Amino acid sequence: MSFRLLTLSSSITAVLGATYSRSENIVGTGFYNSFNFEAIADPTHGRVNYVSEATAKSQNLTFASANTFILRADAKTAISDSSATGRNSVRIRSNNAYTTHVAVFDIKHMPQGCGTWPAVWETNESNWPNGGEVDIIEGVNDQGTNQVTLHTSPGCTMPASRTQTGTTLLTNCDVNVAGNSGCGVSVGQAPSYGPTFNADGGGWYAIERTSTFISVWFWSRNAANVPADVKAGGTAVNTGNWGTPAANFPNTSCNIAQFFDANNIIINLTFCGDWAGQAAIYGASGCPSTCNSYVDSNPTAFANAYFQFNSINIYE
Ligand SMILES: *[C@@H]1O[C@H](CO)[C@@H](O)[C@H](O)[C@H]1NC(C)=O
Ligand SMILES: *[C@@H]1O[C@H](CO)[C@@H](O)[C@H](O)[C@H]1NC(C)=O
Ligand SMILES: *[C@@H]1O[C@H](CO)[C@@H](O)[C@H](O)[C@H]1NC(C)=O
Ligand SMILES: *[C@@H]1O[C@H](CO)[C@@H](O)[C@H](O)[C@H]1NC(C)=O
Repeated sequence: MSFRLLTLSSSITAVLGATYSRSENIVGTGFYNSFNFEAIADPTHGRVNYVSEATAKSQNLTFASANTFILRADAKTAISDSSATGRNSVRIRSNNAYTTHVAVFDIKHMPQGCGTWPAVWETNESNWPNGGEVDIIEGVNDQGTNQVTLHTSPGCTMPASRTQTGTTLLTNCDVNVAGNSGCGVSVGQAPSYGPTFNADGGGWYAIERTSTFISVWFWSRNAANVPADVKAGGTAVNTGNWGTPAANFPNTSCNIAQFFDANNIIINLTFCGDWAGQAAIYGASGCPSTCNSYVDSNPTAFANAYFQFNSINIYE
């Protein structure tokens, strides 16, 4: 990996760009080799029933061809049993774990609809929160803009002002503060999440994690500034050409190498629960009824609650 320094007019933050080589190219049926399905109880208390790979395949909750990979919630079954755990859905975790790396997610469609809480994120589940958590894509109830968030053990905070196009939300990443809100950045670009993202044919999310910073970029499918190496999905990328990230987490008051260990990629789709289901949040989103009863009674409302991936490329 070779570094080169970008010249910035601002002397406060030097942004390092680097060239990385592709170590994994995950496409179509390859997702089944690179990820495992986790049929576990939802740690965020969602109205969800995560199913195994065999069940997901038999119910067509996952589907792959040579060049596409789909993950979705059940959109056929009403749930009448109140003791049921919820709507069938999927959660997958990468077999490999990553420290310093770039991951480029080429996503054609993400789950949308009232009650949905999809996420693409990285963590070490058996060492949470000490191994850190980076939420790359996360949101609830059809909001228009994505939120990128770190969650850590105590001692990691972010400066309020930094070199990024998004807007800083809270600055303390400690999971014990503010009900585990984390230190988030609103991407603040309308097609970055949900219905607007899907209407534009999706786009690309990319994370660069080094020992001294974590950055996340977003480019909509038809944006003029999609870097050529991102669009090509080829064998190398140079983050030095990617411009200012949507979200940047520097090491100013957070030793990144200390707060983050090797993380797996997790992709999950839950409903309601600790975030999407909070009465005030669900109500403010303009969604009908209460979250759990909406999820139980309206299966066809979840026809668009699916992820469609063109690829995930990992560069190290
Ligand atoms: C889904 O993803 C989010 C990360 O954004 C995580 O906080 C949450 O625990 C996950 N939910 C489940 C059920 O895994
Ligand atoms: C499964 O899903 C795929 C992708 O949406 C679709 O093309 C296919 O027809 C579905 N198969 C069945 C049996 O419904
Ligand atoms: C923080 O990152 C900069 C480079 O971005 C590096 O020079 C410095 O040593 C890092 N500080 C710590 C405490 O890791
Ligand atoms: C996750 O953390 C556990 C506990 O510290 C550790 O044993 C394991 O190696 C870590 N996993 C990875 C992929 O680093």
